Amino acid sequence: MLNNQKLHYSVINEIFINVILQKKIMLQHEKIILRPLNNNDSTELALLANNKKIWDNLRDYIPFPYTINDAISFINMVKDQKPVMTFAIEFDGHLCGVIGLVAQKDVYRKTAEVGYWIGEPYWNKGIATVAVKLITEYGFDQLDYVRIHTGVFEYNTGSMKVLEKNGYKKDGIFEKAILKNGQIWNEHRFSKLK
Ligand SMILES: CC(C)(COP(=O)(O)OP(=O)(O)OC[C@H]1O[C@@H](n2cnc3c(N)ncnc32)[C@H](O)[C@@H]1OP(=O)(O)O)[C@@H](O)C(=O)NCCC(=O)NCCS
Repeated sequence: MLNNQKLHYSVINEIFINVILQKKIMLQHEKIILRPLNNNDSTELALLANNKKIWDNLRDYIPFPYTINDAISFINMVKDQKPVMTFAIEFDGHLCGVIGLVAQKDVYRKTAEVGYWIGEPYWNKGIATVAVKLITEYGFDQLDYVRIHTGVFEYNTGSMKVLEKNGYKKDGIFEKAILKNGQIWNEHRFSKLK
C-alpha cells in the first residue's frame, strides 16, 4: 500500500515537473515572451511568415509562399518537443516571430544552432535582440550546451547586429557558401561559448 502510494506520488510529481518543464515553459523579458507554439498560432504564423523579405534571409527548406498548411505542419512538428527547442516569440501578447535551437549531432552534440525570424510589422523594436538573449541563456543554463552558433548571409546586417549585441563573436566568413535566389553569397559564422 505504502509502495503504491509512493508510486502514485512519484507519477503526480513527474506530471507536475513535465507541466513546468515541458508544457508551460516560458522565458520572459518585459513585454517579450518565448513560449511553445500551439495550434492557435497557425493563422498569424502564416500571415507573418509569408513574406519574401523574411524568406530571403532563411534556408530554402522553409517554404515560400508560406501557407496556412505550412504553418500547421510546422507547429505539429515542434509543439511537443522535449525539451522545448522551438519557441513562439510574443510581443505585448501578440505572436511576432519564431526562434529555435537545433541540436547538433555526434561529436557536436554539446553545440546548438540558433535560428530566428521576426514578422515585418515588428522589426526594429529590439525584439530579436531580446529573443536571442533569452534563448541563449536557456541553451546554456537549462539545456547545458557549451556552444551556440549560426550562419548569417552576407547582406543581413540586422541579424549580425542582433548577434553581436548578445556577445556572439564572428568566427569567420565562409566564402561563397550560400546559393540563394540564384546568386552565390558569403556566409558570416557567429558563435557564443558558455
Ligand atoms: C534580422 C531580424 C531578425 C532583426 O530583428 P529585429 O527585431 O528588427 O532586430 P532588433 O530590433 O533587435 O535590432 C537589433 C539592431 O539591429 C539593427 N537592425 C535591425 N534590422 C536592421 C537592418 N535591416 N539593417 C540594419 N540594421 C538593422 C537595429 O537598428 C538594432 O540596432 P541598434 O540596437 O543599434 O538600434 C529581422 O529583421 C528578421 O527577422 N529578418 C528576416 C529573417 C532573418 O534575417 N532571420 C535571421 C537569419 S540569420
